[in-house]
Amino acid sequence: LIDGKLIEWKGKMAEVNSSISSTKEYKPTYLGSVPELEEEQAQESLKAALKAYDQGKGKWPTMRVEERIHCMEKFVKAMETKRDIVVKLIMWEIGKNLPDAEKEFDRTVKYVYDTIEDYKQMDRNAAKFEKHDGVYAHIRRGPLGVVLCLGPYNYPLNETFALLIPALIMGNTAIFKPAKFGVLLITPLLEAFQESFPKGVVNIIFGRGRVLASPIMKTGHVDVLALIGNSKSANALINQHPKSNRLRLILGLEAKNPAIILPHADLDLAVKECISGSLSFNGQRCTALKIIYVHEDIKEEFLENFTAAVDAQKFGNPWDDGAFLTPLPEPDKPAYIQALIDDAEAKGAKILNKKGGQHFDNYIWPAVMYPVTKDMRVYEEEQFGPIIPVVYFTDINEPLDDMADSNYGQQVSLFGKDVEVLSPLIDTLVNLVCRVNLNSSCQRGPDVYPFTGRKDSAKSTLSVHDALRSFSIRTFVASKDN
Ligand code: G3H
Repeated sequence: LIDGKLIEWKGKMAEVNSSISSTKEYKPTYLGSVPELEEEQAQESLKAALKAYDQGKGKWPTMRVEERIHCMEKFVKAMETKRDIVVKLIMWEIGKNLPDAEKEFDRTVKYVYDTIEDYKQMDRNAAKFEKHDGVYAHIRRGPLGVVLCLGPYNYPLNETFALLIPALIMGNTAIFKPAKFGVLLITPLLEAFQESFPKGVVNIIFGRGRVLASPIMKTGHVDVLALIGNSKSANALINQHPKSNRLRLILGLEAKNPAIILPHADLDLAVKECISGSLSFNGQRCTALKIIYVHEDIKEEFLENFTAAVDAQKFGNPWDDGAFLTPLPEPDKPAYIQALIDDAEAKGAKILNKKGGQHFDNYIWPAVMYPVTKDMRVYEEEQFGPIIPVVYFTDINEPLDDMADSNYGQQVSLFGKDVEVLSPLIDTLVNLVCRVNLNSSCQRGPDVYPFTGRKDSAKSTLSVHDALRSFSIRTFVASKDN
């Protein structure tokens, strides 16, 4: 979708629709295709976004609040009519199970409605005057310019829209490039974007980052880089911008969220939460638990229960009833997980669960590795997949020191019951990460809560409320007379 026009692409929806309704069996199935754009089209999309913004003078950035809300409401209503096809494509294209695919869609729709409500409230507040030392001020928030928005494959709808929707409603114009996986599922929404927003306000381009995003950054005309993904891609893009110091960064990057299980923890609860925390969507979440620290006194009981619980999970295709573990969309991920297993085994860890590491095609059974030590790759790297390193500790300062030394600082899960122990620990942990989950797994939601991280994990804060502020700047009109 460039400058209000959809690129002609023969038969894309027909192929997608027929293949996903035809079979429930596993077999390699052709889902459809998308055009892979060239640099020239990326430049056209930038030109369209720049023209629609027109250095802040364009129709969109100067549009009345009610009119922008009207466009957004039109979009979300059109989006709701596409639930069935988009949910199916989330399952088929990235392997997310049915309940999670439905949740992703519904959560995203709610995110758009909540954003509209928060924006209305922001506008109501902006209507008030302030007066200090004889100066009246009418403070409001203005857009930042042209946003390049790049989304991840694991939440191809929710996380991308958590960037794109607030960016648009605040009056910015955007170029959005979906991830390599999770691109077909955007196609049913292209018309909704086309019909709801003036031309050039939102441009959606499919293709490779180095062909499309890099040349756009090199022009120096991007004002905001909004990216959820990895720091390697983010840094490469930032470095290509000739005036990168002017660039506003809104980034959600890597994390290595730990669970810390204290001796007095409710172990059944800890096992249950560590399963969902480490294995929902096969561990392919930035908020997943990616390392478990368990106190020496309870390690045997925890590991016995935890490994049994891992092996009791149901593996299947995304549309199978009760399938919790599903195939991985990235073709090279099983080999990467295997390399982590091999490295940990060579350095003295073992796979503790019977089924751990078994795989065929892109189905891989989660491996619980123990005891994991600092020299192992899986201790350090963000695995983003079904391998769970477990470390034991005797002194709480061991996990705390590891967290302080880590490059990441998103969240932690803390399991324990004794308030006298928990309370001072929480005071320390909130200075190491941005969210402490008490007796529960790490997660981003509900989306009204701040989503951010320390160190290399994030830049700026996302939440319904915060994202509107991240994608805008405070401006005001001052006068000595109201
Ligand atoms: O990949 C990171 C996602 O924001 C995780 O979201 O915690 O709701 O699964 P979630």
